[in-house]
Amino acid sequence: MPSERRKVSHVSQEAQANIGVVGLAVMGSNLARNLASREGNTVAIFNRSYEKTQTLLDEHPEAGFLPAASYREFADTLQKPRTAIIMVQAGKGTDAVIDALVEVFEPGDIIVDGGNALFTDTIRREKAVRETGINFVGAGISGGEEGALNGPSIMPGGSDESWVTLGPILKSIAAVAEGEPCVTHVGHDGAGHFVKMIHNGIEYADMQLIAEAYDLIRRGTGKSPAEIADIFAEWNRGELESYLIEITAEVLRQVDAETGAPLVDVILDQAGSKGTGVWTVQTSLDLGIPVSGIAEAVFARSLSSKPAQRAAARSLPGPDEGLVVADADAFIEDVRQALYASKIIAYSQGFDAIVAGAEQYGWDIKKGDIAAIWRGGCIIRAQFLNRITEAYAADPGLVALVTAPYFADAVARTQQAWRRVVVAAAQAGIPSPAFSSSLAYYDGLRADRLPAALVQGQRDFFGAHTYKRVDRDGTFHTLWSGDRTEIQAVDAH
Ligand SMILES: NC(=O)c1ccc[n+]([C@@H]2O[C@H](COP(=O)([O-])OP(=O)(O)OC[C@H]3O[C@@H](n4cnc5c(N)ncnc54)[C@H](OP(=O)(O)O)[C@@H]3O)[C@@H](O)[C@H]2O)c1
Repeated sequence: MPSERRKVSHVSQEAQANIGVVGLAVMGSNLARNLASREGNTVAIFNRSYEKTQTLLDEHPEAGFLPAASYREFADTLQKPRTAIIMVQAGKGTDAVIDALVEVFEPGDIIVDGGNALFTDTIRREKAVRETGINFVGAGISGGEEGALNGPSIMPGGSDESWVTLGPILKSIAAVAEGEPCVTHVGHDGAGHFVKMIHNGIEYADMQLIAEAYDLIRRGTGKSPAEIADIFAEWNRGELESYLIEITAEVLRQVDAETGAPLVDVILDQAGSKGTGVWTVQTSLDLGIPVSGIAEAVFARSLSSKPAQRAAARSLPGPDEGLVVADADAFIEDVRQALYASKIIAYSQGFDAIVAGAEQYGWDIKKGDIAAIWRGGCIIRAQFLNRITEAYAADPGLVALVTAPYFADAVARTQQAWRRVVVAAAQAGIPSPAFSSSLAYYDGLRADRLPAALVQGQRDFFGAHTYKRVDRDGTFHTLWSGDRTEIQAVDAH
């Protein structure tokens, strides 16, 4: 419960804060400190249990936080229009805080949910809160703990009206890439959380691709994790330059203090997740967008986390010979190129999902701006994102990112190496689901003709689902169980 000291501070600090934060766990406390460190901000803070508020006050007196012990007190501490960022446990926690804030806020005030909400929840919440006259903004915030403190990439949705007040505040705390704050008004209602979800999906694919690259190099060349760390550090100076490549080198170099073994060999090989990758795949399935690289990354984590199945399958046969690499340097370069090509596919698929989501939900999302705000502060930050921004600037109607001249050239340059790596992995029995599915997607996309024609024939055979012909308009059905003549169908099923 609040201390006497807090009560005294409240009386003397009424309505002085221009921004408030609700939820002071890892993310909220760091975001509050980030806000407090920027010129002109005075930050009100509230947490359900007062202990976290007190801890933050005690550890960071320099921040000048204005603490509140109740939602009412929190509202009274904020200048109008009140602006509060919620950083609490996604789901029920977020709903509980919104309900409480709606009771004490007034029309024109702004509630921002900075947690990892499912975008359809954000659409629902925005609609409900809007009826009270209060603005609700779902904002994706990427960059974890460190980003929240030093500058995250921020993807806000919500109304144009709330962006007027919120924009300058979010710009002040966002990461900066090449002089630009990594924040843009993504679109209305759930657009921000939708784009954050896709960001996380791409992150899954990127991490899985890097993990496959590491595994192939280790098994193919016998190099140690520390030696492979050097390779990743080298790659980080080229076209693969990115935060994920950089931290991969750090993780591979780490030695376990207890055993003296590389830490990566001591960590249990069962990858967890918090669900945003699954959401990306589920949503993309609903939208009809093949995000196969992201899906394979999610499945790879699921497979890794099935110890009983893995134990039961361990004795199943594989190829006689493991990966035999004649020229280690050439193989490593092939893997680098395969990684780059597959990464292009992962981003291309992610942007396809953004385009489809924008169309489905009526959001005006500027793809180039999204790539630009991912250049800093977030987990997938990378040099490469500049090329995506340029591609959409040159052709805003670009139908597939991989077909933009820069990326088409990159894939043309790397595709032979990509194929060699996928072949070598399959022959040696080394799982490379993200590399190989990305290549299959690429070949499917560029194919003149796909066996989908046969699938249509099968569908027509067993379900009279009809088909179209290449040589004339109309919808057709073959009388499979009759004389097998073709008739023109009136109604497509
Ligand atoms: N951790 C990350 O790296 C990361 C990165 C990006 C986004 N996010 C998102 O940011 C949000 C915050 O993450 P976090 O890791 O800092 O915290 P968290 O562990 O997800 O949530 C803990 C916070 O939620 C509060 N809370 C839970 N239920 C509540 C309720 N019914 N009413 C009021 N408050 C409630 C807790 O209050 P008490 O102290 O009273 O229990 C505590 O402040 C989440 O949505 C998370 O998904 C996290």
